[in-house]
Amino acid sequence: MSALSTFWNFWVFAIVFGTLIACGLLIQYSSKTQVHNEETDETTGHEYDGIKELDNPLPRWWVMMFWATIVFAVGYIAAYGLGNMNGFLTVEVDGKQVPWSQTAQWENEVEQFDMKVAPLFAEYAATPIAELIDNEAALQTGQRIFASNCSVCHGSTAKGSQGFPNLTDNDWLYGGTPADIVKTITDGRHGMMPAKGLMPSMTDEQIDQTVQYVRSLSDLKHDATQAEAGAGIFAQACTACHGADAKGMHITGAPNLTDKVWLYGGSTKQIEFTIRHGRNGQMPAQGDRFSKEQIHVLAAYVYSLSHKAVAK
Ligand code: HEC
Ligand code: HEC
Repeated sequence: MSALSTFWNFWVFAIVFGTLIACGLLIQYSSKTQVHNEETDETTGHEYDGIKELDNPLPRWWVMMFWATIVFAVGYIAAYGLGNMNGFLTVEVDGKQVPWSQTAQWENEVEQFDMKVAPLFAEYAATPIAELIDNEAALQTGQRIFASNCSVCHGSTAKGSQGFPNLTDNDWLYGGTPADIVKTITDGRHGMMPAKGLMPSMTDEQIDQTVQYVRSLSDLKHDATQAEAGAGIFAQACTACHGADAKGMHITGAPNLTDKVWLYGGSTKQIEFTIRHGRNGQMPAQGDRFSKEQIHVLAAYVYSLSHKAVAK
């Protein structure tokens, strides 16, 4: 909880109590003047089409209601506090009674919710991910966590977009076993493709040749002569990460270049950009944000996307 500075604390008190006092004075003033108003004919003097506005005192019950709101306000402040002053209400956080505040109230509710769902998550966590994908309730929970935490990058259907991998296609940068997925989510991943691979001196012509070779790997339209020259460059500058067969490597996160699945795109332009400037995809670690049990359920949802015929 952040305390207000002395000035703002004073400011809050001045406004709140100033208003209460002003309201009290106004009620007192208006009930008095009207009761002791002797020299008029009990109208306000306003007249319109023969209709006169009476100047009767406010009904007593009404005035009492105004006073009641002021008493209520004072009681409310005593209960909930004002500015840096705590009220007498408390809530339980971490097993301790602490003065009421919105933050404490929220923490209390989160704790109660966690306590309620903990047995459920414990049950899910005891089921291996490969089996948990048959538990619809668990997948729905996973989907909800995914929707609010992962879909910003991977898309609401987890199909990804440029630079953000599709998680539904069973084509993996870092491996698709349950353990791989748990590790990806917990620790995050950082794909580092250096510009020009391991050949910083690569010329423009060599870049063009390598582009043609990469396109030939997945049977895209290419120039055969240039691709042939590119093969030699690829062996030198690229296979360390992408593998001799160019099928990628899960340890480096280097994608398979022989399938038709592209992270950044398979057009001549995109491939050239990748080689010339390198790539730096980052999957943020989630281990601090979620419990092990939550990650287990999340991983089951991700796993289900490519291991269940009808995953919604
Ligand atoms: C800020 C954007 C961002 C968010 C948020 C994000 N991811 Fe990712 N994720 C990425 C990027 C980028 C990659 C690819 C990393 C790379 O290029 O090396 C990735 C990779 C992955 C992979 C590995 C895919 C593969 O082919 O091996 C999985 C699994 C994954 N994310 C799951 C999740 C889950 C689950 C969440 C939600 C908890 C999540 N991501 C949230 C950006 C994000
Ligand atoms: C140090 C390891 C490393 C080397 C060397 C390397 N790459 Fe990569 N490459 C990667 C990684 C990792 C990625 C994925 C980057 C990301 O996730 O942001 C990648 C991505 C790519 C992509 C994008 C694929 C797609 O699906 O969009 C292409 C194309 C590519 N590399 C080609 C090459 C070529 C050609 C060379 C040799 C000149 C090369 N790489 C050398 C690690 C490497």
